[in-house]
Amino acid sequence: MLPQPRLPRRAGRRTNLALLTLLAVAAATGVLAYGVGTPGPARVVVAVHGAAGLGLLLLVPWKTVVVRRAWGRAAGTRGSAALLGVLVALTVVSGALHVAGLAQPAVLQVHVGAAVGTVPLLVLHAWGRRQRPRRTDLSRRTLLQAGALAAGAAALWGAGEAVLRVAGAPGAGRRATGSLERGTDDPAAMPVTQWFTDSVPDGAAGSLTVVSGARVATLTAADLDRGDRVRAALDCTGGWFAVQDWAGVRLDRLLAELFDDDLPGGGSVDVVSRTGYRRRLPLRDAGALLLATSAAGRPLSAGHGAPVRLVAPGRRGFWWVKWVERIEVVDAPWWRQPPFPLQ
Ligand code: HEM
Ligand code: HEM
Repeated sequence: MLPQPRLPRRAGRRTNLALLTLLAVAAATGVLAYGVGTPGPARVVVAVHGAAGLGLLLLVPWKTVVVRRAWGRAAGTRGSAALLGVLVALTVVSGALHVAGLAQPAVLQVHVGAAVGTVPLLVLHAWGRRQRPRRTDLSRRTLLQAGALAAGAAALWGAGEAVLRVAGAPGAGRRATGSLERGTDDPAAMPVTQWFTDSVPDGAAGSLTVVSGARVATLTAADLDRGDRVRAALDCTGGWFAVQDWAGVRLDRLLAELFDDDLPGGGSVDVVSRTGYRRRLPLRDAGALLLATSAAGRPLSAGHGAPVRLVAPGRRGFWWVKWVERIEVVDAPWWRQPPFPLQ
């Protein structure tokens, strides 16, 4: 008798490799989406992210065959494999709900939490079952299949965007970063959110200390009301944004006044909150940074950083340090810090 063709097994290997690729692209672009604040690059990263995530759906019929075949003999591993399935499904559904503009802002936190949870399970799942790439993977047929998957994923994403527009869903007007508008020109309507390691501090604020080398200046919030203004979008990684007229003092102006223009050419500036939260920014950006004491003509509220917060146009919200207590000019480069805050 002739041996049976083993096509399903080969198809399973390619399905698993395709799943791995899409998940890797989705995870990488998801993290990248949190890092980029400028609309052009953000639009590309976020679109690739959405297409890779939605592309997973196209593989469901093929993966179902793989799972059915393996299920009976996988008593030891199928619990964690099924949990992986649940988490990936939750990630995709919560991502799509966020994109539609529903259940803000908690749904994006669910999305990121579920995505982070899939990583160890995926490593565990794929590790013992390494699907080695083969030379034949470079064949015209597999390249065409990969191209068809990429085109299908892009089409799915495009169809999703079209549906949002036709249905007039709130998500149709979201920013390039994926954030939805909340409280533009109305600071009281902005959600009070901060990086997950940070929280609104208790008690009264003290003074602001500005340090450059051996020189130290101590200021009150009133000293910062100089009438410098900037209109900028605060774009929170929690999934919302608001455009405000921020007012206070430009950081380059303040530093030049305090230290008689005697500042290092390179270097960075550490901006530290009363809560201990901090970010380091390049000193060359100081002309674009504002120490804000008010938004839309009203003093900042406690939740939004009173008495003074950093305004960093073009950067995501986690750079906009609230409750600023200390500013220090340092020699260390700005990139010598975790890309996302850990403190
Ligand atoms: C969306 C992500 C994935 C989910 C939800 C998922 C789920 C499952 C489930 C439920 C099974 C059957 C139960 C078991 O064998 O424990 C399975 C089998 C399997 N999975 Fe995955 N999987 C995913 C991604 C991957 C990836 C990325 C790889 C490898 C690179 C992979 C390789 C395999 C292999 C080789 C089998 C066994 C096939 C057999 O024995 O015939 N899976 N998967
Ligand atoms: C394996 C992990 C991930 C998968 C499978 C995934 C999947 C998805 C999907 C399917 C969407 C909806 C796309 C649409 O309907 O157009 C989405 C949106 C989104 N995801 Fe993820 N995601 C993952 C990880 C992450 C991570 C780690 C982050 C951030 C740290 C993130 C941030 C976002 C954002 C901001 C959106 C909204 C994008 C938009 O407005 O178009 N995702 N994701």
